[in-house]
Amino acid sequence: MSYGGEFGPQIRRVKLEKQSEFRIEVQRTRPLRLRLLDGGAEIFGYELPHEVWFTFPPRMIFAVFTWYGATIETDGITENEYTSCETPMMSYLRVHNSLLVERHRSTSSTRDSVPSQGPRVIIVGDTDSGKSTLAKMLLNWAAKDGWKPTYVDLNIGQSSITIPGTVSATPIEMPVDPVEGFPLDKAIVHYFGHTTPTTNLRLYKSLVEELARELKQESFGNAESRASGMVIDTMGFIVRQGYELLLHAIRTFNATVVIVLGQEETLVNDLKKDLKFKKSLQFVNLEKSAGVFFRGSDFRKTLRNSNIQNYFYGVTNDLTVYTKTVKFSDVQVYQIGDFPETSSSTSARRRGNDPLKITPVAIDEHLVNKVLAISYAKQPDHQIISSIVAGFVCIKNVNTGEERITYISPSAAELPSKTLILGTLEWRVT
Ligand SMILES: Nc1ncnc2c1ncn2[C@@H]1O[C@H](COP(=O)(O)OP(=O)(O)OP(=O)(O)O)[C@@H](O)[C@H]1O
Ligand SMILES: [Mg+2]
Repeated sequence: MSYGGEFGPQIRRVKLEKQSEFRIEVQRTRPLRLRLLDGGAEIFGYELPHEVWFTFPPRMIFAVFTWYGATIETDGITENEYTSCETPMMSYLRVHNSLLVERHRSTSSTRDSVPSQGPRVIIVGDTDSGKSTLAKMLLNWAAKDGWKPTYVDLNIGQSSITIPGTVSATPIEMPVDPVEGFPLDKAIVHYFGHTTPTTNLRLYKSLVEELARELKQESFGNAESRASGMVIDTMGFIVRQGYELLLHAIRTFNATVVIVLGQEETLVNDLKKDLKFKKSLQFVNLEKSAGVFFRGSDFRKTLRNSNIQNYFYGVTNDLTVYTKTVKFSDVQVYQIGDFPETSSSTSARRRGNDPLKITPVAIDEHLVNKVLAISYAKQPDHQIISSIVAGFVCIKNVNTGEERITYISPSAAELPSKTLILGTLEWRVT
């Protein structure tokens, strides 16, 4: 592991009173080790085992919460830390308990011997209101109780399952490791390719619809996952087109519970008004935790970069990255919609372009540093939108003279498909 030798003799004990939490911002350049000594404590719903060190990478921000009291030990210096007894955890737990009731109800009510669907919870709210954190808690608590809910991540700006620019979902079969994050092995991933939905609203909606369709199909054959339901995480873009996308997601996934985080009266009222015909839809307004960290646009950019870095190198820098070269003729690169490189989609719409048009892209130096998705599409048509992706590569070099592309990949294997999707997502290979 690359962090060896970076720890000093800075071991400290922190005693936590019941229902309090220790909020930590890890240093920007150094990791932090932490372990539970006694009592019981959890990190966003993940119960810590006793006396096992966890190494948190630089910049990670999290809280260790205890229901009944705990002593933890940390090794390393933090950027920022404090303890707080004021948390909204009781209200979050109440929501979890009501979801459990819904899940049990689903298993006992069957139609044509298929259990009815469990709760489909969508979490909405402003940026940095704690949506992804609450999603993680609800999923972890459910998994701890033996359920297998599906996590749906619609946030293309700060994605949780894989790299930014993706719309994805994964079954949660056990509580999610607080360092490693969500497992990727069973994830269903669609590539949008941009970090803001306005670059191509039509495409974003299409991918959300595809994902919902796939999950519906999958859940039919899996009674456990069907009854466990889903937790849908959304973007903090809650006005104008962002609001329209929330309505679209609520309808597309046929959500049964909308959790609004934070004091968002206008949002709650608007959603209630616009969704008044969905009689069975429940609204729950929850307090935002004071521990949620505000992330400015520069920090968000850094997080996006480290998210891509984690995909290739692993969260703890423990993965092997492969540099590979292919001939131009070995791949075909496509883009979806006629998006201009630097301007917004507004100008594209004004020109009347088709946002779902699949266009072949010339291979030249402009692909350097671009993150491309490897599509499972068999034909370069609408399948590029409806198919999931196998993974991502980042272009390191394009040699037009020799007609060769050099890219990096987390896999040593040949590309599983010739079809690559280009967006505007970039990552500078170091
Ligand atoms: N109680 C807490 N104590 C310390 N840090 C916290 C706490 N709750 C959340 N955080 C941290 O605050 C940051 C923002 O939280 P989170 O990602 O859940 O917000 P979000 O609403 O999903 O943001 P976005 O709108 O960007 O998706 C994260 O780094 C998270 O780990
Ligand atoms: Mg989030």
